[in-house]
Amino acid sequence: MRAQFQHHHRLICYLDAAGPGPLERQTLVLLHAFPLAADMWQRQLGVVPAGWRFVAPDLRGFGESSPGETSAPASIDDYAEDVVALLDHLGLDRAVIAGLSMGGYAAFSVLRTAPARVGGLVLADTRAEADGESARASRDAMLETLARGGASAVFERMLPGLLGATTRASRSDVVDLVRKMALSQPEEGIRRGILRLKTRPDATPLLAAIRCPTLVIVGDEDQIVGPDDARQMHLQIAGAELVMIGRDGHLSNLERPDGFNAALARFLAERF
Ligand code: MLT
Repeated sequence: MRAQFQHHHRLICYLDAAGPGPLERQTLVLLHAFPLAADMWQRQLGVVPAGWRFVAPDLRGFGESSPGETSAPASIDDYAEDVVALLDHLGLDRAVIAGLSMGGYAAFSVLRTAPARVGGLVLADTRAEADGESARASRDAMLETLARGGASAVFERMLPGLLGATTRASRSDVVDLVRKMALSQPEEGIRRGILRLKTRPDATPLLAAIRCPTLVIVGDEDQIVGPDDARQMHLQIAGAELVMIGRDGHLSNLERPDGFNAALARFLAERF
């Protein structure tokens, strides 16, 4: 179901799905990639395991969540603030936080700003490092692309990295779905999203202090976060597990939902 609440006069919208079983539930919060919204998690929200509740917010400015004050500086911590507001709204002390790519950067921000709220982590197709010089330059180029050609130009520029070679060659339904989702995002949310990606701090120093159960997932065809980067990150987190999904690209949960869901369900069943 879709739900919403107000936080500081802003609307925060989220998708909420419960698995079968007792009302006493643990909660997984799913944080989406750029330039998408909560509905990229539909294939996970449809198969919530027994005893779990999955909640997926539209991060600020994406989907149906309002962008907030657009003249204020944009920070990745804005997304963490909204995740914490969501936990407060749901009456939850803590939850397992899962983030894919930009969602992973937001998960690191929650870990940095509100560590007590994080009961576990799923870090999918994401990295802890901040943008380097060339990545920041390409964010500036992306802002120009957005100003000139809108959401559609941003999507076409990102497509080769966003989806794996196998998906692009043989799954036109997935390409069309992701295009439709990306093209429906408000331009202001995309613009401020790019600024948040560009200015996010290095989360590498957090890795050695992580003590909660952690699953790292990566598609073997992910060109934005390579399998080697994921392997390196997982080695820096004590007790973390790594799952690499074959013939899967950057949007691993959408491109190969069966592999993603199997890894997620096993992790939740064994570690919580
Ligand atoms: C994403 O998928 O969220 C973006 O590709 C992240 C990024 O560009 O760093």
